[in-house]
Amino acid sequence: MEKSYYLRSSEWFGKYDKMGFVHRSWLRNQGHPDHMFRGRPVIGICNTWSDLTPCNGHLREFAEIVKRGVYEAGGFPLEFPVMSLGETIMKPTTMLFRNLASMDVEETIRANPLDGIVLLTGCDKTTPSTLMGAASVDLPTIVVPGGPMLNGKFRGKEIGSGTSTWQISEGIKAGTFSREDLIEAESCVSRSAGHCMTMGTASTMASMVEALGLTLPGAAAIPAVDSRKKVLAHLSGNRIVEMVKENMKMSDILTREAFENAIRINSAVGGSTNLIIHMLALAGRIGIKLTLDDFDKLGSDMPLLLNLMPSGKYLMEDFYYAGGLPVIIDRLSEILHKDAITVNGKTIGANCAGAPCYNNDVITTLDKPLKEKAGIAVLKGNMCENGAVIKPSATSGELLKHRGRAVVFENMEDYHARIDDPELDIDENCIMVLKGVGPVGYPGMPEVGNLDLPQKLIRKGITDMVRISDGRMSGTAYGTVVLHVSPESTIGGTLALVENGDIIELNVKERSLILDVPEAVLKKRKEAWKPAPPVAERGYVKMFIQHVEQADQGCDFDFLKGGSGSVVLRDSH
Ligand code: FES
Repeated sequence: MEKSYYLRSSEWFGKYDKMGFVHRSWLRNQGHPDHMFRGRPVIGICNTWSDLTPCNGHLREFAEIVKRGVYEAGGFPLEFPVMSLGETIMKPTTMLFRNLASMDVEETIRANPLDGIVLLTGCDKTTPSTLMGAASVDLPTIVVPGGPMLNGKFRGKEIGSGTSTWQISEGIKAGTFSREDLIEAESCVSRSAGHCMTMGTASTMASMVEALGLTLPGAAAIPAVDSRKKVLAHLSGNRIVEMVKENMKMSDILTREAFENAIRINSAVGGSTNLIIHMLALAGRIGIKLTLDDFDKLGSDMPLLLNLMPSGKYLMEDFYYAGGLPVIIDRLSEILHKDAITVNGKTIGANCAGAPCYNNDVITTLDKPLKEKAGIAVLKGNMCENGAVIKPSATSGELLKHRGRAVVFENMEDYHARIDDPELDIDENCIMVLKGVGPVGYPGMPEVGNLDLPQKLIRKGITDMVRISDGRMSGTAYGTVVLHVSPESTIGGTLALVENGDIIELNVKERSLILDVPEAVLKKRKEAWKPAPPVAERGYVKMFIQHVEQADQGCDFDFLKGGSGSVVLRDSH
């Protein structure tokens, strides 16, 4: 085969000495013929398939389809497993393991004879973890998002993953939902392979990779079981071989402009607050300067164009049939960096120009947006010196300016023990404050910020209250929920000093979150504050709490920032 490009795999397969023999010979036991080792781009298919990650359960089959595309284009595909993170199963939270999985991805790619990478992703953390790992190696890389499940259908109504869970949970508390209803709803919401079909974190991540230019156009919204998703996988297999020949690396795609596009597009689709943490971490790996304030500056004035749960009423299947993300990108084209290059070698503007919309109720027009302003607001104040976030489009809207009395829960266990106590001194004007659920505190910063309201208030018909914590919230959740308070309470942030009865003032328009307690009182409380003993004395969790950064930095490990490239300095002898 004639070639005029460098293949790093030739450092393994291109030698006709003892080690060349070793590298080829053992792989030959899989039945690969000699010509596979002669100058073909070797494509690693990084598979997050796992029986324990239901949202990625179909990715084994997808890997075979990607392989077809790679073979067809003259490449040599080799699939490898990496740590998979199943959102609904893992305890205490998948976020505790995102960085660990990224290390697996990074080291596996670098240590092996790979020239290009296809990332097979799906469930929430399987996208950022693989992206972060791949970015630190920086080979040509394309993403195949596994796709959402079909729309949930329950007793003739649409039902959305995650979003319905919160509604069911409230229904059980209110006594309007029985155990039988619950069991019936379980299979009605999860009808097919794929990830959550609301605009939760998985759909947000899929939209993010498409907006960043890391997928072929239109990838994000295609349902997992639609045959066109398989076509996308096949074509991605074709394309990655070309990308290797063109030496189009991840860093060529992941520019500051691409990140700015992704922030704006995320606002327009009503994406999850989790995007912030993952994008900050990814930017840190690829060497792009991105700050928490960028998300407010770039995204908070964007119109909400997508009518999807939790901000709207439709689901991802509807989004695909309406035209998918290319329609959103085309409608925003005057605001975006149209010249940002994508994995197919064309600009994002060219890819999406004139994308037809088939349903303007699902994807609204710029002059009739679902909401005038979407996006994420970044709050500052003495309660969150390094920032906190809120997603106004997912709130009731009535509490965005609110002053109330704090009802404090010292940790999740305290919350569970007292929230439904009829004696709990709380009313709908109070502000619920939860401590101890930050990156170090929980540890892993779980999605618990959208606390269920007290049963006695739900029964009164109350549906929203201000809630504040150093944790995260599922992208499928809603409510006036202030998240990612940084610094977190466990390391002595002001959140740690809040006491029952304190007055807190939230003003989203002014971007402020104020603990209205005199400085002198706070100083005294700070002097009396003592950190809790570390939650782990050994193993990975010990490393996690020692090295994880705060939410406003993206929660990566301090020692993982940046990349080490693809060169391996020492040979295996
Ligand atoms: Fe996997 Fe929602 S649980 S995407």
